[in-house]
Amino acid sequence: MNKITAGDIKKKKNKEKIIMLTAYDYSFAKILDEAGLDIILVGDSMANVVLGIKQTRRISLTEMYQHTRAVAYGTKRSLVVADMPYSAYQRKPQDCLKHARKFLKLGADAVKIEWFGAKNSKDCFYVVGKLIKNGIPVMGHIGLTPQTVHLLGGYRVQGRSKPAAEELLRQAKILQNLGVFSLVLECIPYPLARKITASLKIPTIGIGAGKYCDGQVLVLYDFLGLYSEKKPRFVRVYRDFSREIKKAVIEFSRDIRKGKFPSKPESFFS
Ligand code: KIV
Repeated sequence: MNKITAGDIKKKKNKEKIIMLTAYDYSFAKILDEAGLDIILVGDSMANVVLGIKQTRRISLTEMYQHTRAVAYGTKRSLVVADMPYSAYQRKPQDCLKHARKFLKLGADAVKIEWFGAKNSKDCFYVVGKLIKNGIPVMGHIGLTPQTVHLLGGYRVQGRSKPAAEELLRQAKILQNLGVFSLVLECIPYPLARKITASLKIPTIGIGAGKYCDGQVLVLYDFLGLYSEKKPRFVRVYRDFSREIKKAVIEFSRDIRKGKFPSKPESFFS
C-alpha cells in the first residue's frame, strides 16, 4: 500500500472524489488510515473540539506540532496535512518556512494555509509562494476562514453578494497560480463552489459548500457526534458516539458499584 502524495490528490480531479476528515491523535489517525481515507487533516479545529478554546487563532504552534506528530505516527497511507496555525504565518509571515519545515519534520506530508489579509495585501501570496518555492506542498483554504472570522462578520456563509463571489473566485485563481495542490472551500453557496470547482485545474474540497466540489471534509468530532456545541447545518452526524460513551460510562459505574467489575478473569491471582 503506497503512501498517498499531494500529486496523487491533484490527479483525482474529475476522476474520483477526495475524502478527508480531521484527526488530532494517534488512535483516531490509525482508524481513519485503515479505513482508507485519502487525507487526514490535523485541523486547528482541534482548538475548539479537543482543547475547548473558542477561537482557532489562539491555538499554539507547540500544540499543533505535538498533535501532528501523533497523527503521523498513526498513519501509514493517508496524506497527512498539518493546518498551519495563525501564529505560524499570520503574525510574522517571514517565519512561515521555518514552521512549515518543522511540521514536515514531525511527519506531515503537506500544510494548509487559510487565506488572510486585506483585499490587495501581498502577505498571503508571499507565504504560499515562499512555501511552494521551497518544495512544501500547500493546500489552500478560502471562504469562511476561522482564523480571521472576526474580519468576516462571524461564522456565516461567505460569497453571497456578486462582489464577494468574484473575490473568492479571484482568490482561488491566485492560489492555483501560486501552485497549491488543492483548495478547501468552506461555507459558500453551492452554485459558487460549483463555478470555482469548474474553473480550476486543481481539486476543491468542500465543507458547507455543496456536492459539486471534488471532495468533502468534515471535522471528525462533528461527524462522530462528539462535539456538543451547536451543530452547523452542513454537518451530518454519522454516529452519535457521545450517547454511546455516556451509556458505557453509566454501565461501567453500575458494574463497579455492584461488584461486577473487575471479574476473576480480569484479575491476577499471583
Ligand atoms: O481546522 C479544520 O478542521 C479545518 C477544516 C474545517 C477544513 O480547517
